[in-house]
Amino acid sequence: MATDVHRAVSPDRAGQEEPAAVRVQGLSRTFDGRRVVDGLELTVRSGEFVALLGRSGCGKSTLLKILTGLDREIEGAVLVPRRKATAFQAPRLMPWKKVWRNVLLGLPGKPERAVAERALAEVGLDHRVDAWPKTLSGGEAQRASLARALVREPDLLLLDEPFGALDALTRIKAQRLVGELWQQRGCAVLLVTHDVEEAVLLADRVLVMDDGVIAHETEIDLPRPRDIADPGFAELRTHLLDHLGVEAPTPAPAPAHAHASASASA
Ligand SMILES: Nc1ncnc2c1ncn2[C@@H]1O[C@H](COP(=O)(O)OP(=O)(O)O)[C@@H](O)[C@H]1O
Ligand SMILES: [Mg+2]
Repeated sequence: MATDVHRAVSPDRAGQEEPAAVRVQGLSRTFDGRRVVDGLELTVRSGEFVALLGRSGCGKSTLLKILTGLDREIEGAVLVPRRKATAFQAPRLMPWKKVWRNVLLGLPGKPERAVAERALAEVGLDHRVDAWPKTLSGGEAQRASLARALVREPDLLLLDEPFGALDALTRIKAQRLVGELWQQRGCAVLLVTHDVEEAVLLADRVLVMDDGVIAHETEIDLPRPRDIADPGFAELRTHLLDHLGVEAPTPAPAPAHAHASASASA
């Protein structure tokens, strides 16, 4: 049964006692005099899976880049774990390095090939360890990018629309994989997506970004594994679409007398 708790995030949530993977207070980022992020507050609990929705251009990637540490021209406070990893929509593999070398790219020290092999096995790419990136399918490249994130053993995994470019079937498989990896690893995940169903399928909590802040949040209390055919699922999807300013298609209501005549003839 779905419990639909929705409320605006209040700043005092950031002051709660439980351990947090992410704590953002009063975060602002300005581009050319325009405040894309404007006093944003956000807490992600350790091990929590949070999905972030919002219309295109509302600042989701900007927020993720800040959390990744790629953008430091900010105001406000950002606390993230030292061990964090990011996967972007484009897999960003170096074409002149084999898949396993791509997975280890940027790791400190001299990590062994076996480290990459283990991560690639985890994402179901054991057979592509020695492949060149250009020979991978879109789904495989995205899984290689996930493996590269996993070898960092992150306490926080940041995902920016990682399935956005995949076809429907590959996307479903990749979503399932991320759900499984999250359950095995127990790291916190912040997943940026434009797909409401993906958010409800995977997340403990779904946030909607608007006007530079987290304008809305919904707890997703459905049992896992989740079923999009669950009535609770549809309810949450409609609710979130509402907050995104998208009207969900409503089934044509049955005329009031239809039931009466149906029962009368029964
Ligand atoms: N480096 C940048 N310089 C100038 N404007 C930027 C830069 N990065 C992002 N923006 C602007 O900030 C806004 C939010 O961008 P972005 O965070 O990429 O949105 P989203 O990921 O939600 O689609 C957009 O209007 C974008 O043009
Ligand atoms: Mg983006």
